[in-house]
Amino acid sequence: MEFVTLNNGVEMPVLGTGTNTFGKVNGDYFGDINDDTTELLAAIKAGYRSIDTAIAYRNESVVGKAIKESGLPREEFFITSKIPGDEEHSGTAEKVEASLNASLEALQTDYIDLYLIHHPWDDENEMLQTWYALENAYNDGKIKAIGVSNFDQDQLDIIIDNARIQPMVNQVESHVGNWNDEIVAYSLENDVIPTAWGPMKGTDDASRAVLTEIGDQYGKTWGQVVLRYQIERGVIVIPKSHNAGRQADNFNVFDFELSDADKEKIKAL
Ligand SMILES: NC(=O)c1ccc[n+]([C@@H]2O[C@H](COP(=O)([O-])OP(=O)(O)OC[C@H]3O[C@@H](n4cnc5c(N)ncnc54)[C@H](OP(=O)(O)O)[C@@H]3O)[C@@H](O)[C@H]2O)c1
Repeated sequence: MEFVTLNNGVEMPVLGTGTNTFGKVNGDYFGDINDDTTELLAAIKAGYRSIDTAIAYRNESVVGKAIKESGLPREEFFITSKIPGDEEHSGTAEKVEASLNASLEALQTDYIDLYLIHHPWDDENEMLQTWYALENAYNDGKIKAIGVSNFDQDQLDIIIDNARIQPMVNQVESHVGNWNDEIVAYSLENDVIPTAWGPMKGTDDASRAVLTEIGDQYGKTWGQVVLRYQIERGVIVIPKSHNAGRQADNFNVFDFELSDADKEKIKAL
């Protein structure tokens, strides 16, 4: 595994597993939680130690259960979770504290490696109150790194300009057809590490043909090529698959390097 050093010195794996449909009936995002840890245990067996969950996914408890079932020590894992920007969960110090305590309990842990504001919203003051509460939890050691998700340039500036502790990560949509180059570059310029959600999305037959041709040179699949592209440009990836073979494939991206010419072709997709 390769790691990126966040702006506070914390080391984060450049590859993790997404989970937003794990532990749910029919692998459906809106399905009931069924406590099934099969997908997570397969990912852990394949080598994943970074796991991306969220309060909104309702499956933090499944992640906590899988980590316990793995028999591996908590410190081997890098857990990311996210607090929703809604009335119930954030906007005041009390609500953020209650949300965080619920996350800690569900995850069966006394610290979370990375906690993100899941989405920006209109009320700048509430957003900042949420951020300040996260800073306090960070100072208390309940969170090892803090960040945001789906923030554009202006929204990121609000945090950067007012924070006592700078955000460490901005998790944004990024994949073929929508690389989101602008916010990726802006985040990197500000020492906020971008993470790509939905990294396997956006391909069609034509783009897969280009990626497959590139991959053939390295003995890699189109999926491995897109993940490698993101990692090489400084973006963390959190692909999700319900299939153990594809989970293992997605993990196997550390033994090749894309040429500059290939990167240009991928960038254009
Ligand atoms: N911050 C946010 O707002 C936000 C939003 C969305 C997602 N996320 C996070 O990002 C994670 C990843 O995003 P995502 O789950 O939406 O999409 P994704 O990782 O891009 O996966 C999309 C689909 O690609 C397929 N896939 C995975 N690996 C593949 C491969 N090697 N070859 C072919 N197909 C492959 C999977 O189907 P199979 O299961 O059939 O393999 C999966 O359903 C989520 O799980 C979640 O943790 C965050």
